[in-house]
Amino acid sequence: MPSARPSLSPGVTPRHSRILGVGGYRPRRVVPNSEVIEAIDSSDEWIQERSGIKSRRWASEDETIIAMSAAAARDAMAMAGITPDQLGTVLVATVTWMYNTPAAAPVLAAELGATNAAAFDISAACAGYCHGIAIASDLVKGGTSDYVLVVGVERLSDFTDPTDRGTAFIFGDGAGAAIVGPSETPGIGPTVWGADGTRWDAIQQREPWTEVVSAGKEKPAIVMQGQAVFRWAVWSMAPVAQQAIDAAGITIGDLDAFIPHQANMRIIDSMIKTLKLPEGIPVARDIAETANTSAASIPLATERMLREGQAPHGGLALQIGFGAGLSYAAQVVVLP
Ligand code: UT7
Repeated sequence: MPSARPSLSPGVTPRHSRILGVGGYRPRRVVPNSEVIEAIDSSDEWIQERSGIKSRRWASEDETIIAMSAAAARDAMAMAGITPDQLGTVLVATVTWMYNTPAAAPVLAAELGATNAAAFDISAACAGYCHGIAIASDLVKGGTSDYVLVVGVERLSDFTDPTDRGTAFIFGDGAGAAIVGPSETPGIGPTVWGADGTRWDAIQQREPWTEVVSAGKEKPAIVMQGQAVFRWAVWSMAPVAQQAIDAAGITIGDLDAFIPHQANMRIIDSMIKTLKLPEGIPVARDIAETANTSAASIPLATERMLREGQAPHGGLALQIGFGAGLSYAAQVVVLP
């Protein structure tokens, strides 16, 4: 007879999670539409009308992925009231870190002094931050980590072809961060997420790294089938947002803020209409001054809404990210 196997320790008692702090870093250099229009034969009016973008921030040399992430992370830790040694995991969502290996997260963890943290990157483009919040929430609830740093960071200007009419005016740079930690009450609703890889070429790096030089390019650029992505976002993302509201066990009228990925002001307006978002619920419109910063857009918009008093601390916010993949993720969160 084999002896009875010992049962494994359950780790911690199951617990809830919530976002305890957010932070953001916006590069110093403001780039108005007037700076990008000549190379794409466009106009300030066209860009504002078709996308809602007035200006964007582009990072200078010293505003690296790590430097921007560290600045955002320090603010988020200060709001959460924790120190770097308390971090159990560091997650970085980005598609513009220039190294395939190592990931940005361990470099960031070292920069912050997060010596006790596991660290890895998430590649889910504009949905990366919401993927990060989903993973962080489960890590905390399952007892793997007490505190998780989630950073969404991009230097999209490094991957932008200034002569490409479909993207040259769209992208911006920046970093946003959140600390997820334990909570006595549920603070992060169930995540609704997915990916349609059959449409992998709708937003993509123009050529793989191995072919950049043979294609006669100095660096790769991200290209986009703008209209196709626009239609997908408008038709498919409102139902995903509604599923996240339903999964959280609330109604849309319970929301204190709607914080969608900042891809295009017209996509935001269309989602508001389809969701029948009640008037008076504040909506993130950071895209006007920040443009589309991919993984950074939702945490940057969240930080701004809290700082400017547009959304209440402790309020309920619906966040939804969507983009290359085509991947998406949405959840309702309690604001820190
Ligand atoms: O973050 C990840 C998710 N990304 C998104 O969700 C982005 C989704 N897509 C979009 O936001 C929009 O497709 C864009 C803002 C990128 C483009 O706007 P659009 O309304 O879809 O433009 P379009 O490509 O349908 O072009 C409309 C017209 C065309 O002229 P005709 O054929 O109607 O005479 C284009 O040639 O505008 C012309 N056009 C431009 N004109 C001035 C296209 N690009 C430009 C330009 N400046 N940059």
